[in-house]
Amino acid sequence: MTDKKRIVSGIQPTGNLHLGNYLGAIRNWVDMQNAMAAGDSCIFFLADLHAVTMPQEPDILAANIRSMAATLLAAGVDPERSVLFAQSDVAAHSELSWLLNCVARIGWLNRMTQFKEKSGKNREGASVGLYTYPVLQAADVMLYQATHVPVGEDQKQHLELARDIATKFNNDYQSEVFTLPQPIIQKTAARVMSLRNGSAKMSKSDPSDLSRINLTDSNDDITQKIRKAKTDPDPIPDNEAALTERPEARNLLTIYSALSGKAVPEILNQFAGQGFGQFKPILSDLMISIIGPIRDRLFSFQSDPAEIDRLLLQGAKKAETLAAVTLEKAYYAMGLRRRN
Ligand code: TYM
Repeated sequence: MTDKKRIVSGIQPTGNLHLGNYLGAIRNWVDMQNAMAAGDSCIFFLADLHAVTMPQEPDILAANIRSMAATLLAAGVDPERSVLFAQSDVAAHSELSWLLNCVARIGWLNRMTQFKEKSGKNREGASVGLYTYPVLQAADVMLYQATHVPVGEDQKQHLELARDIATKFNNDYQSEVFTLPQPIIQKTAARVMSLRNGSAKMSKSDPSDLSRINLTDSNDDITQKIRKAKTDPDPIPDNEAALTERPEARNLLTIYSALSGKAVPEILNQFAGQGFGQFKPILSDLMISIIGPIRDRLFSFQSDPAEIDRLLLQGAKKAETLAAVTLEKAYYAMGLRRRN
């Protein structure tokens, strides 16, 4: 094994990218891409095969795949430095996922909290795909021998499962086919919470658009959403411990910290004693200065769908070549000697 970093991550192309995705994951992708040393590589993809584990309107999904690609490009993913593609363009993801379905244990999947959350009370009616979703996610990273996987806190359990699957495969087949992937979680914004409820994560599936900042939001939308964000009447405290029972207050200060690059204690120092009425416009101005330029680039990428398709196809070809090597080793280790 070398000490070269192989950075791999994905995002579902469902709805708009929101501030949680951006601060929790995408900004980290871009930082890691920009800090790559010689021999390192970055592989980023649109997890469209994950998206179809839940009901999707086909035409809307097709449009969302392109617009999510435009968003990633606008956020700074550079297709010359990173491999950027749509998961369904590279069949190896589905193929390896099947092989790993035969290695992962039902008991392991039964412990996955996201399945419980997403299937809700209708477990029997959930798709089988939703249940084996974490196995596909393991295939996504193992296929490329990922060493580092930048994600938000909510994906940590899936990454632990991927490590278990990789370990079991290597043990069962007495092979060194797979590298154990390591999650890289950005501490400052590991969990950006809803603007309406400080105990729920900011999410694309929240029915209230006021709960999240989308990267497509206008400056006015951003100002309004921050102004309407739930808070409490108390002033900003001077120490972090005082935020424990104030999830909404903590969320806004955490977002400010992630956007400004300043640690929370430093921010408390600066704003202690002020009310959220004073703090919110400062937060929305900072947000607009960061999100605004990304949004403008996004709209310009979106106006050229043919170029997006060209870039995605180019990325898929590169990914296919990389994936083929590991996929072949996995088939072989399992005794599947393909005649091709
Ligand atoms: P997805 O599409 O839900 O989210 C994409 C990334 O954004 C992070 N994230 C958040 N971070 C902080 N606060 C939030 N409120 C927030 N909401 C989302 C997620 O942790 C994620 O990093 N299963 C994955 C996609 C996936 C994947 C993979 C990721 C498929 N295969 C392989 C890594 C490696 C998902 O649904 O993420």
